[in-house]
Amino acid sequence: MTDPTSAVRARIHTLRPADLPAYCYDLSALRDHADRVRAALPDHVELYYATKANPAPEILATLRPYVHGYEVSSGGELAHVRQAEPGHPLAFGGPGKTSAELAAALAAGVERYHVESTHELHLLAALAAHHAPGRRIAVLPRFNLPGPGGALDGSALAMGGRPTPFGLDPAEADRTVRLLTDETYPQLELRGIHAHLASGLDAPAQLAVADSVLSWATALTARHGVPLHEVVVGGGMAVDYTAPEARFDWAEYGAGLARLIADHPGLTLRIEPGRALTAYCGWYVTEVLDVKRSHGEEFAVLRGGTHHLRTPVTKGHDQPCTVLRTDAPWPHPWPRPAARGDRVTLTGQLCTPKDVLARNVPAAGLRAGDRVVFGMAGAYAWNISHHDFLMHPRPGFHFLGAPEAG
Ligand SMILES: Cc1ncc(COP(=O)(O)O)c(C=O)c1O
Repeated sequence: MTDPTSAVRARIHTLRPADLPAYCYDLSALRDHADRVRAALPDHVELYYATKANPAPEILATLRPYVHGYEVSSGGELAHVRQAEPGHPLAFGGPGKTSAELAAALAAGVERYHVESTHELHLLAALAAHHAPGRRIAVLPRFNLPGPGGALDGSALAMGGRPTPFGLDPAEADRTVRLLTDETYPQLELRGIHAHLASGLDAPAQLAVADSVLSWATALTARHGVPLHEVVVGGGMAVDYTAPEARFDWAEYGAGLARLIADHPGLTLRIEPGRALTAYCGWYVTEVLDVKRSHGEEFAVLRGGTHHLRTPVTKGHDQPCTVLRTDAPWPHPWPRPAARGDRVTLTGQLCTPKDVLARNVPAAGLRAGDRVVFGMAGAYAWNISHHDFLMHPRPGFHFLGAPEAG
């Protein structure tokens, strides 16, 4: 469902045109969703939130009781989450970590390092000796493993199973394990293996990925006679913007993971979803400024645009939305702009034809002043958008149903 929740609707009614656009987040809905996700996961499966999906402190705090930790992918995210969520475990991933970022992570006592290359492994070891002398550093090398039998085919955002800059090539696996276990770097501990192969996979595809990553990691460590404590099978649980009612099947996934882990007593599996946790708790609310006809098609120009909500442009979809009609009188002596046909394309205020939020939306009679509420805007929305283009004002932010402090 992408219709705004009752809490979001109530807030929208209090907002004046000058308060728009606005992001509204329903933190109670997020709590309920995260609770269901967590309940579906078996013991020995840890849930880390991929902060990149939405790092707002209110979101991190709401997720706190349901996650075992946070995955961060830059020094900026690391510093932000450490401050917002002190004392909660962090896993530091992402390609191209700099010396300064790694040094900051070591100084901050980050719990897990997802190492993406041999160079990064050498760098981490050298920096650890200096910034964390005497401390064991838990390393999970990330590998770009092949996707099992077509499981990644449905993904528009594959990072593995093909040539990409992410992770280590499997051909480097034996050398990497040796480097981590032959006393070359006694401070580094091979804690486990990391893989994140793709985003947008349904539960059967995710289970196939988890199965193959687990088998590969087990075979690798067995070949070297070294223990395997943890396997991270990534995030990427599907969020379908073209089917807003659909949900990733957490129950099926959890049951499948339970079967997989049953064969590996003592092993911790870890997942790190972002989008599928937070996409559904956010709405971007705005109003129609103008409605016009152009070469036979109708366009509504909305206050704001893709510089606030870039998700539909990056993913190539129409952002699901709900129209809330206004009963406010038209304040001008000239006619109120209104759609004559049934279908209207919703655009923003940017001077580019790419500033389209949704095409051919059924919105007969849409008028200037009506409000449009875009759903599924809780992940990879505001934080991935190019806010400064054209220097329009920033939206308001409303976090509804905040958790109790403490
Ligand atoms: C390493 C890693 N883990 C987890 C995620 C989260 O993916 P999603 O938000 O699709 O669950 C990403 C996304 O790019 C990633 O790169």
